[in-house]
Amino acid sequence: MKVTLAKSAGFCFGVKRAVDTVYQQLEKRQAKPIYTFGPIIHNEEVVHDLEEKGVTVINSIEELRQQAKGEGTVIIRAHGVEKGICEEIKSMGFEIIDATCPFVLKIHRLVERHSGEGCQIVIIGNGDHPEVKGIKSWSSAENTQVISGKEDAENYRADKEKKVCIVSQTTFNYNKFQELVEIIRKKGYDIIVLNTICNATEERQTEAAGIAAQADAMIVIGGRNSSNTQKLFEICKKECKNTYYIQTVKDLDLTSFRSVDNVGITAGASTPNKIIEEVQKNVRNEL
Ligand code: F3S
Repeated sequence: MKVTLAKSAGFCFGVKRAVDTVYQQLEKRQAKPIYTFGPIIHNEEVVHDLEEKGVTVINSIEELRQQAKGEGTVIIRAHGVEKGICEEIKSMGFEIIDATCPFVLKIHRLVERHSGEGCQIVIIGNGDHPEVKGIKSWSSAENTQVISGKEDAENYRADKEKKVCIVSQTTFNYNKFQELVEIIRKKGYDIIVLNTICNATEERQTEAAGIAAQADAMIVIGGRNSSNTQKLFEICKKECKNTYYIQTVKDLDLTSFRSVDNVGITAGASTPNKIIEEVQKNVRNEL
């Protein structure tokens, strides 16, 4: 039995930075409450551990207003928040620590600049994801649209007199991004394409596809709400139909692996090393 663990599995730079920030604040705090604005990352295990240590997840300004009395620290998650939120939290009297990944902040700046210069904005990504909502909020263009798939791209309409600036959610699939850009390009718009997909995502996806293509069975580890883990799963499933999506070692049903020779393992950007190690050990020991 050969087990291949992807080198790029697990926390990316931005997620590690955000999670470390919360743990550091926990060490430093002096009886003052600590909040994270939204779950710090899309991993239930990590969020649960932080909650046990006294961190409260707040999902909106309203909730913060009701639950907290303007005292304590609010930490902004890795994939960022909408424009104005940080100022509003500060004005309520909280100390704010912005753990938004610098790569996401860069997209905010790009969208702000290009929309300010008169471009129409297209964000390729999942419109329900907080990162995309955050990016969208930085556009001052009237025509700002989120495109998540082929159908949206085919239905896209914009003013041909103005440029269209296209950016991407950091965790979007690179090939799909290119495919959607091409659909828009063929419509004859004057486009500026800014590939803002994070390198960490691209590397993780390419490596996962390579391992899955060789594997008899593939395990993808990550939180249920983690969009980058869901994409990894899709990519691996294309290459290897025996691909399993698990959150922790508890979801691992090794009976389906008995007759395989070659197992691949990868994990989303918000999956802690501890969970990856447990899965890997279990597969190696049990099979
Ligand atoms: Fe940042 Fe890239 Fe991770 S954008 S949060 S380093 S996936």
